[in-house]
Amino acid sequence: MTEWLQCIACGRRYDLNEIRYTCDDDGGLLSVEREGIVDRDAFDDRRTSRAPIDQSGVWRFREAVLNAGERVVTHPEGGTRLYARNGLFFKHEGENPTGSFKDRGMTVAVTQAVRLGATAVACASTGNTSASLAAYAAQAGLRAIVFVPSGKIASGKLAQTLAYGATALAIRGDFDAAMRLVREACDRLGIYLVNSINPFRIEGQKTIIWELLQDFEWDPPDWIVVPAGNLGNTSAFGKALREAHARGWIPRMPRLASIQACGANPFFRSYTEQFATRHVVAAETIATAIRIGDPVSHDRAVAAIRDTNGVVEEVTDAELMAAKREIDGMGLGCEPASATTLAGVHKLRAAGVMRKDERIVCVLTGHILKDPEANFRAENIREIDATIDAVERALT
Ligand code: F0G
Repeated sequence: MTEWLQCIACGRRYDLNEIRYTCDDDGGLLSVEREGIVDRDAFDDRRTSRAPIDQSGVWRFREAVLNAGERVVTHPEGGTRLYARNGLFFKHEGENPTGSFKDRGMTVAVTQAVRLGATAVACASTGNTSASLAAYAAQAGLRAIVFVPSGKIASGKLAQTLAYGATALAIRGDFDAAMRLVREACDRLGIYLVNSINPFRIEGQKTIIWELLQDFEWDPPDWIVVPAGNLGNTSAFGKALREAHARGWIPRMPRLASIQACGANPFFRSYTEQFATRHVVAAETIATAIRIGDPVSHDRAVAAIRDTNGVVEEVTDAELMAAKREIDGMGLGCEPASATTLAGVHKLRAAGVMRKDERIVCVLTGHILKDPEANFRAENIREIDATIDAVERALT
């Protein structure tokens, strides 16, 4: 099977193993394309296979992700659970090895980095990508450099990134500034860039969708709901659904709902104008994972919404934190950004866009322990003397 890089705007093709992130002609984003028939039955058989590569919920789909042979850098990742709670479904991507969905893209991007002979890899991050990169780079023996907005990433993510041995550059500026800087730095210093502008990341993240379709035995749900920040996931979901439909793996397309925080809503603004303009905002939200004002995968994400008859919604910080309480209260738990999904479902149901009888899957993108500060509910703890009387007083 042949694979190549292709500009999503003009269709120009490039060799798969060229180090490039955009098209020379028009600056368009690139995607990995391939030809050949891929049979979904093989993927299902691998769910029970004991071969190490099949244990990965990413590489189980390898013919449709990247033909890297056995030389893959895998934990393994994926294989996350689908939970049925309160009339909804939750695919918990926080169950990945480093606690977020980023591992699915990172296993592919770092595998490609090794294939290209890179010695150093870098990303800009609000925390989860950096933790994932740090872990996979450590496994592959590559140097990891992460650009993070100083003081604006959750403590669990920063600690994790440093623990895996990455070098962190805490940028005095926001994520968007860090993103611009890392692109320049990678060009100048010959470092391989693994943000979701990197098309190999998208290939890995497609498997969230394929795995959840497997969970439903390829009978697609009506809606798939995803938080939206840099728009890598929205893009990957659109590509995964297009490919699944084109190859006859599913009889119909589920609809995508991408949810932003009101304070970081450039994609939502653009959606309300039928994507006539691309917006950039100065982002502010309690959900630091998606505190992003100028998402790099905008163009790919527009296609994802259009191709799936999808919608984009925004929710306030209060709404997303209330939804987080609800998800935590189900015993599932997630970080604040992930809770935009449930908050979005509430809003879209109230508006009549989603119906009660529809099957809806919320993709929970990050683990509850990623953002410890967001979890501390002071009303649930009381300090008492070490006496049985004090215990009784406290509980009655
Ligand atoms: N949820 C979580 C927990 C995230 O960490 C991110 C993005 C998103 C949702 C949004 O996904 O960017 O594909 O639209 N985190 C990136 C990072 C930006 O650096 O960890 P997206």
